[in-house]
Amino acid sequence: MYCMNSVASISNTVAKHHLEVRGSNFLSGQIKISGAKNSALVLMAATLLTEEALFLKNIPSLTDINVMSELLSSIGVRIERKSNEISLTARDLLQSELPYKLVHALRASFVCAGPLLARIGEVSIPLPGGCRIGNRPIEEHIRGLEALGASVSIEKGVVKAKLPKNKKKLKGAHIKFNCQSVGATETILMAATLAEGRTVLENSAQEPEIQDLANMLNSMGAQIRGAGTKEIIIEGVEKLNGCNHTVIPDRIEAGTFLIAAAITRSSISLTPVIPEHLEAVFKKLRECGCLINTMGDSVKITPNEITAVDVTTSPYPGFPTDLQAPFMALMTTAKGTSKITETVFEKRMQHVSELNRMGSSIKLLGNTALITGVPQLTGTSLSAGDLRASAAMVLASLSAKGVSKIIGLDYLDRGYERMEDKLKKVGADISREKITISANKNSKEGFKPLTPQSIQQEVA
Ligand code: UD1
Repeated sequence: MYCMNSVASISNTVAKHHLEVRGSNFLSGQIKISGAKNSALVLMAATLLTEEALFLKNIPSLTDINVMSELLSSIGVRIERKSNEISLTARDLLQSELPYKLVHALRASFVCAGPLLARIGEVSIPLPGGCRIGNRPIEEHIRGLEALGASVSIEKGVVKAKLPKNKKKLKGAHIKFNCQSVGATETILMAATLAEGRTVLENSAQEPEIQDLANMLNSMGAQIRGAGTKEIIIEGVEKLNGCNHTVIPDRIEAGTFLIAAAITRSSISLTPVIPEHLEAVFKKLRECGCLINTMGDSVKITPNEITAVDVTTSPYPGFPTDLQAPFMALMTTAKGTSKITETVFEKRMQHVSELNRMGSSIKLLGNTALITGVPQLTGTSLSAGDLRASAAMVLASLSAKGVSKIIGLDYLDRGYERMEDKLKKVGADISREKITISANKNSKEGFKPLTPQSIQQEVA
């Protein structure tokens, strides 16, 4: 009997981590910005376009990068990783089917569809489905692949695309996207590099990560111009080579740390950054009372009194949706009332209820939040529901009075490289603590699955 209970309790025990933040510290010093997650993921997928080795530097250490590595390995890409460098060789691709488990874990993996189709003539990839921030359709990717001559069908939730019989290549086309989609632009851009003839992409997304991709593809021998504008022109080439490429700095990570400085009313500097990529963020931070000084690839922020400003998210060069939640955390501490409107994703306001639990005053009207600043937030136990919401929880906790315990670090670790270490170096009182949770605490009730609520009860 003793033995059986022990086994049961061991098998139902899960080790998780939470972040413990003791707020109200000032920050000072310099933070090093990592390579951009959203660039690195798509640059890794571009290895599928060549049989030669691709060497990428400044790869951030993130769980999303691990999943992309696993996905590429599963179809035969040889990968070696040393610290922040990675080499990828897609000489012998074993299969054109991408496994559901990994595609499901990383929505961005759909960008593999374009290069795989272009290189080996077929691809089979499960529909990635929606996610916590809303329904995330891919019809623009599919329409683009069809326009390049692929026949595409969806069978039992799997997208199957192949070249028509007797064709060895995709065919260049004039494609006008119905919406500016980062993923669709990247997928079709990569596919078009090996197509026959010219492809023109109209209404393309203009994000810096797309420019980074085009720069690398051009180093591999592609002929692309116009990346970073709404019209991209690609002259298809016979084959691509390997190359060495350094991933651009992560503008979203940089924006998050700038907001960390503003919310704690602290002056810090960040390096490296590409200031031009952060213009929309600088503009809002200046408007709400921060001094922003750039020098080469560094930026220094010095906040004064923070006053309310309105923000509407939009595709680049607009204010990034990925910084909407962190900026809202800042506005909860501003003087006056601000209005933040989310226009890119349909369900990206889940941080509102958690911020209100810390004492903020936010009213939600659909995808618009009205935020009236309060003198002080209060630390509490918090649950992060998506990647950028989790960053917002950390920022709010840095400024709050008392201790906050944040669970849901799986999200945070997808997009921020050891965020707590970087914050600790500039003076934040933050640590990652291990919590061990028994799933069936009350044996009379039998097995109780872990939920964010049950973990939160344990942490609180
Ligand atoms: C990328 C970024 C993500 C960022 C987002 C918007 C990566 C890995 N992720 O995601 O961090 O938040 O851009 O800047 O780079 N849409 C359609 N039909 C489509 C495709 C998209 O309607 O076929 C819509 C989406 O629902 C969304 C909008 O377009 O409303 C933007 O989505 P998209 O740019 O495709 O986002 P991702 O590439 O998934």
